[in-house]
Amino acid sequence: MIFRQLFDRDTCTYTYLLADEATREAVLIDPVRELVERDVGLLGELGLKLMATIETHMHADHVTGAWGLKQATGCDIVYPAASKLDADRLVGAGDTIAFGQHALEVRPTPGHTATCTSYLVDDMVFTGDALFIRGCGRTDFQGGSAETLYASVWEQLLSLPDATRVFPGHDYKGRTMTTVAEEKAHNPRLGAGKTVEQFAAIMDALGLPYPRYIDQALPGNRRLGRPAHSETGWWSKLPRSEAGARRIGLDFVKQAPGGVRMIDVREPHETAEGHVAGAELIPLGTLPQQAPGWNRDDAIVTICRSAGRSDRAALHLESMGFTKVASMSGGMLGWS
Ligand SMILES: [Fe+2]
Repeated sequence: MIFRQLFDRDTCTYTYLLADEATREAVLIDPVRELVERDVGLLGELGLKLMATIETHMHADHVTGAWGLKQATGCDIVYPAASKLDADRLVGAGDTIAFGQHALEVRPTPGHTATCTSYLVDDMVFTGDALFIRGCGRTDFQGGSAETLYASVWEQLLSLPDATRVFPGHDYKGRTMTTVAEEKAHNPRLGAGKTVEQFAAIMDALGLPYPRYIDQALPGNRRLGRPAHSETGWWSKLPRSEAGARRIGLDFVKQAPGGVRMIDVREPHETAEGHVAGAELIPLGTLPQQAPGWNRDDAIVTICRSAGRSDRAALHLESMGFTKVASMSGGMLGWS
């Protein structure tokens, strides 16, 4: 199995890449929105096909890279069922998430938040914020409960074989992994003979400050990492095609957000193959005459048959000073 532990220096978040050597199918656990380009680059270098992004919970300290990775790779977005989010797949106890010959076993571990879930494959468990190296996530937000977390950790994680390697969602002291045996013996909150009452008292006394990113992170994560398209800089974060044009997914166009112009750059006779409702037909050859009169602040999605001409149109508009422009991935071939 291919395995990489990736790190976000800003929020000390670990992202995990797991992949099957033979089939090249991969999954990413807890990707970070600001680091989508890094992850897409690594997937490309290793020749991997991303099947799914998987979240351990609704994060309060960073926004998931799920949406950006789905735009770039077409992967599924997987969330814990308790999140009740509109993901491609919701997973609960006993479910498995396959990649090639391997599969992650889904183990709900609520307590840090109500949605927290851990994932087990072979002798590796990815614990999110349920269990850290010599610590655990806080239990005072998002449906957290010290009693629930204690039960989750002991029943779902520390009950695994002693040699099981534990990979947490964060570490703030430069450590990368631990084992079940180590945490049973040395975790000062949950291990070392601590009772649930002692654990609850420890958590109660932490007096942590309000999470610094929570007010931005939670709405972003409820949108599966899709920024509100009115947000400053939203368009600049879209991934680029090999031709260099920003690309946007079919799903975005299908939801037909208000205020976004759809520009179909095919020839008139091609629209018989189907067209996007509300799209303006402006063949690529006529764009240089038409576009100069447009508002440079318009949000524009360009569309063609296979995304080749729409890439060229998007690049042309960008060169004219349009900042909110992207080409629809897959083109009309992918539409039906
Ligand atoms: Fe968290």
